[in-house]
Amino acid sequence: MKILMVCLGNICRSPLAEGILKQKAIENNRNIEVDSAGTIANHEGELPDSRSIEVAKKYEIDLTYQRSRPLTQEDFSIFDLIYVMDASNYTDVIARAENEAQKAKVNMILNESYPNENRRVPDPYYGGDAGFENVYHLLDEACEVIIRNL
Ligand code: 4NP
Repeated sequence: MKILMVCLGNICRSPLAEGILKQKAIENNRNIEVDSAGTIANHEGELPDSRSIEVAKKYEIDLTYQRSRPLTQEDFSIFDLIYVMDASNYTDVIARAENEAQKAKVNMILNESYPNENRRVPDPYYGGDAGFENVYHLLDEACEVIIRNL
């Protein structure tokens, strides 16, 4: 199983989602591949936002091996599931899918923990540290459901 986490910049939310799900895969002995990407390339090559690195570190997850990269066309064939963070990511990613099978791989990640509600993971980029803590907990809940259902 290959899972891709996608947000706008691939520096705040999707790096956290990648780190959390990888950690749970290790803890639960699940052999999955997890990666992340952004719908924009503005931060390509950059480390995750320092606030994402810090909140992950608090929960003993290392994000410092990660570098931002944009979503590619190949991602739609490589990955089995593509989780996005909000409705805007969803629209952007769906617009780049080339067929129905690729579209069917895309889902909002909080639909795992709050089925059919299309809840968003709020973009914490312009907010304070509390935003990152909230994002961490939302993603932790969702990733717990993903691991349990694999
Ligand atoms: P992310 O947060 O999508 O969770 O990585 C953002 C990162 C960068 C920008 C916006 C949101 N930006 O405008 O550059």
